[in-house]
Amino acid sequence: MAKKVLITGASGLLGRALYKEFLKDTTWEVLGLAFSRAHGDLRKVDITSSEELTKVFDDFKPQVVIHSAAERKPDVVEKQPDATRRLNIDATRKICELAGKIGAWVLYISTDYVFDGKNPPYNEDATPNPLNKYGESKLNGELVTLEVSKENGVLRVPILYGEVHDLGESAVTVLFDKVKNTGSQCVMNDYERRYPTHCADIAVVIRQLSDQKLQDPSNIGGIYHWSGDENMTKYDMAVAMATALGISTNHIEADKNPSVGATRPYNAHVGCQRVESLGFGRRTPFKDGIVPVLSPFVGK
Ligand SMILES: NC(=O)c1ccc[n+]([C@@H]2O[C@H](COP(=O)([O-])OP(=O)(O)OC[C@H]3O[C@@H](n4cnc5c(N)ncnc54)[C@H](OP(=O)(O)O)[C@@H]3O)[C@@H](O)[C@H]2O)c1
Repeated sequence: MAKKVLITGASGLLGRALYKEFLKDTTWEVLGLAFSRAHGDLRKVDITSSEELTKVFDDFKPQVVIHSAAERKPDVVEKQPDATRRLNIDATRKICELAGKIGAWVLYISTDYVFDGKNPPYNEDATPNPLNKYGESKLNGELVTLEVSKENGVLRVPILYGEVHDLGESAVTVLFDKVKNTGSQCVMNDYERRYPTHCADIAVVIRQLSDQKLQDPSNIGGIYHWSGDENMTKYDMAVAMATALGISTNHIEADKNPSVGATRPYNAHVGCQRVESLGFGRRTPFKDGIVPVLSPFVGK
């Protein structure tokens, strides 16, 4: 009998990679949820609606739920605190309660922005201290997930990139809009340190954790981290993109000041010992991962 996984946010940047990873493995039956971008086999469900959520759990009865849907743009969260609470916290509680009733395991996707970035690296047991409302809302989502059941899981990940429909979908690929335009000056933040991570690598870790959870339930639960290991500013990423794609870097200029908008951590590097000790994980080098992602946008 197939193992059943429900993926929220399956139309999103990470959710698409997750959906693909589980579909590749025929031992899993996958149901992906989406909202405004529901199409094909993805089911349209507003996860802020208890009724809609209840129906999908009754129909599908998953053993594993990967909860990836969220408002994840710090500047949007600052402006829309109520809508963010409904999506990032209240919906998370409902999902965990419904999962709890049928004995399903929830893995909640969280962020390195739960840390203040002042004293890296942050291991899984480090004390969170979010600097902005996005980090706060994701931390509250974590707390709800583990409050409903301490057997549930949390996976914190850093800045993500992967296959995108448009460059604006990822905080990494959005840089390419200016990088490819060699005729104009391209000023890039060279202050905050980041660890860009390929969504497909995160998806592998999540599938591995999910398989392990069903094989050995008592061994998997609580907080996990996964991250690439290349320390880069946005300026470094821009130069690496241009170099990998054979584009001139002459127009790219470093800005040594902190970024503007919602306060962001300086360096929230996460230690990944719990996943590594299981022998799980994959790290695609940035220069290799970024080329196929950006190639469709070269010359456009
Ligand atoms: N992207 C990053 O760099 C990053 C870094 C660290 C952590 N994370 C975390 O990783 C997770 C995935 O992020 P992402 O980048 O994949 O986000 P994303 O691309 O913005 O996707 C968000 C997803 O949430 C869904 N959604 C929004 N409102 C919904 C609603 N009312 N009902 C049902 N679904 C709804 C969206 O569906 P539609 O588009 O169909 O409306 C979409 O599938 C999030 O939990 C985020 O906090 C992301």
